[in-house]
Amino acid sequence: MGKLVDKIAVVTGAAQGIGEKIAERLLDDGAIVIILDVNFEKLERTASALDASGDKVHPMKCNVADPEDVATTFSAIYEKFSQVDILVNNAGITRDSFFHKMTAEQWHSVLDVNLSSMFYTCQAVIPQMRAQQYGKIVNVSSSSSWGNMGQANYSASKAGVLGLTRTLAKENGSKQITVNAIAPGQINTDMTKDLPEDVKRMATLLTPAGRMGDPAEVASVVSFLTSDDSSFVNGECISVSGGFLMV
Ligand code: NAI
Repeated sequence: MGKLVDKIAVVTGAAQGIGEKIAERLLDDGAIVIILDVNFEKLERTASALDASGDKVHPMKCNVADPEDVATTFSAIYEKFSQVDILVNNAGITRDSFFHKMTAEQWHSVLDVNLSSMFYTCQAVIPQMRAQQYGKIVNVSSSSSWGNMGQANYSASKAGVLGLTRTLAKENGSKQITVNAIAPGQINTDMTKDLPEDVKRMATLLTPAGRMGDPAEVASVVSFLTSDDSSFVNGECISVSGGFLMV
């Protein structure tokens, strides 16, 4: 029997990459998984690949950076499923540039998708989780939250995720809700595939594991944080980076 049987889980940015693997893992754990993404064509293909029956994986188009879209999407989720037990805020983008050349558009688009989105989705689920006295929220941060050249926008957004996570953990812990973060290091996905070879080589050199990570290795940590195996873990950030040395 899977540890998430009868649980309703929402995963954002799940058309591909880490989000897709998280959805797959929560499905294997027994949850009904609602997957959200802006790229609906890809999301539908992912949903069919994960669950040909269409009973357990439900794709919904949603731009998590748009508060109205998030509100409409979660209304539809509550209408169909009545509750949300698990929320994984995974959607994220990069728009890298040295700070002195960074445009306001690059700054705001990254903050909107990576951080403000979590304000919208958490506001959509926390009142209902408080009422049902149960909830598991996992927010995807990054080892770049420590600061990373060319990523002032991304680093700021991912550091903001940690402050939001710890605050929500403190505010809602008494209602049997846990809010935790994960900080992946270099993971093999579309987000990292076009990085210059010297950047990838440097990242690998700084990783004691000596390699980039696989999205499934991130998903297994989310599986722990969304299950009752982590019932006394709250407000934490687990680094999933092969020991990446923050410099
Ligand atoms: P990815 O680029 O492969 O996938 C991101 C997904 O998010 C895509 O399906 C995309 O369509 C979706 N998305 C983008 N903007 C969206 C929006 N406004 N609304 C809804 N969906 C949206 O990226 P990857 O690597 O799978 O990253 C997933 C998360 O992990 C991100 O938050 C990223 O910042 C984080 N991360 C990734 C690392 C890596 O090395 N790949 C390292 C550290 C953190």
